[in-house]
Amino acid sequence: EQIEKGGYDHFMLKEIYEQPSAISDTYRGRMRVAEGIIKMAGIDDNLAKLLNAKRIIIIACGTSWHAGLVAEYIFEELVRIPVEVEYASEFRYRNPVIHADDVVIAISQSGETADTMAAIKLAKENRAFVFGVCNVVGSSISRETHAGAYTHAGPEIGVASTKAFTTQITVLALIALKLAERKGTISNSSFHYYLQELERIPEKVKAALESNEHIKYIADTYKNAKNFLYLGRGYNFPVALEGALKLKEISYIHAEGYPAAEMKHGPIALIDEQMPVVVIATKKGHYEKVVSNIQEIKSRKGKIIGIVTEGDVTVKELADHVIEIPETEEFLTPLLTTIPLQLLSYHIAVMLDKNVDQPRNLAKSVTVE
Ligand code: AGP
Repeated sequence: EQIEKGGYDHFMLKEIYEQPSAISDTYRGRMRVAEGIIKMAGIDDNLAKLLNAKRIIIIACGTSWHAGLVAEYIFEELVRIPVEVEYASEFRYRNPVIHADDVVIAISQSGETADTMAAIKLAKENRAFVFGVCNVVGSSISRETHAGAYTHAGPEIGVASTKAFTTQITVLALIALKLAERKGTISNSSFHYYLQELERIPEKVKAALESNEHIKYIADTYKNAKNFLYLGRGYNFPVALEGALKLKEISYIHAEGYPAAEMKHGPIALIDEQMPVVVIATKKGHYEKVVSNIQEIKSRKGKIIGIVTEGDVTVKELADHVIEIPETEEFLTPLLTTIPLQLLSYHIAVMLDKNVDQPRNLAKSVTVE
C-alpha cells in the first residue's frame, strides 16, 4: 500500500497532487488547441441530439452533483440551453417530467452509484437521450448510458473525491465548449482563447498546490472549530458546497456551504468570533458583492479565510488569512478554487487524527439505495 501511495501519507493527498496530470489526461487527445478543435466520440456521434436538446437534466450524487452544478452555470452561459441539476435519489422517486427531447447527463466517478443508475433507467424509459460522465471504465453506468465520455482521472482510492471532481468539470467544460462553438453561442475567438486557457489549467493547479504549507498553518489555527461556513457566488457557489462536504466527511466537523448572498437570509445569525468562514472571492465574478459579504462577516467578528486571485489587495485587508490562486477565465475558476479547500480539509482531518482515506460510515461507491 505504501508503494501505491507513491510516497504520500494518504491516497487523498496523492490524488490531490495528481490533479495537474489528471486534468491534462482528461483533455489530451480531445482538445487540439493549435487547430482549434475538440474531438470527443460520444459527442461527435450524437451532435444533432445534443445541439437540439430543449433542456439538459444533470443527475448525480454527492461531489458528482456539485460538478453538475458547476456544469449548469457553464452550459447555461456558454451554450444557452436550460439546465436542471437533480439529486439522483430525489429525481427517481418524484415522478419527474422527462421529454424525449431532453438530454440527461449522468455523472458518476465510480459508475456504480445505485440511485444514479435508477435515475438513468427512468430517463431511458421516458425516451430521453442519456449521456454518462464516468471515471471507471466499463462500469455499470458507462454501460447503461446511450453514450458518454470518461474522465480518465485514473483510479481514485480515497473516499473523499478530489481529482474525480476536477476532471468531471474538465469533461463537462469540453462538452460545453464544443456545443457552444457548433451552436454559435460563443465567438470563434472566445472559443480559441478558452481552449488555450483550459490548456493552462494544469500549470495553474500546480501553482495553487504551492500554498500547501500556508494552508497547513491555517488548518492548525482552526482545527478545533466546531463549525465552518463556506461561501461562494456564481461558479464558486458549488465549490463552497464541495469544500463543506470535504470537511464534513473526513474531519467530522460540521460545515455548511451557502451562496454568499443567502447569508443574510439566515446563516448570518451563526456568525461570531468562533466561526471560521471560508469565502471564495476571486477577481472575476461578483467580486464587489463578495467583498461586501466579507465586510458583513467581519463586522460580526467571524474569522475570514479568503480564497483570492493572485495580487488581491481588498480582501487581503479584510480577511484574517488569504490563499491565492492564479487568475483564469471565470468559468474555469472552480478548477482552481477547489484545490485549497481540498488541502484545508485534508490537513484538518490529519491533525485531528481521523481516518482520511476511509472515513467512518462511508463507502467509496454507494451501491445501496
Ligand atoms: C465525495 O467525496 C463522496 N465520497 C461522495 O459524495 C460521492 O461523490 C458520491 O457518493 C457519488 O459517487 P459517484 O461519483 O461514484 O457516483
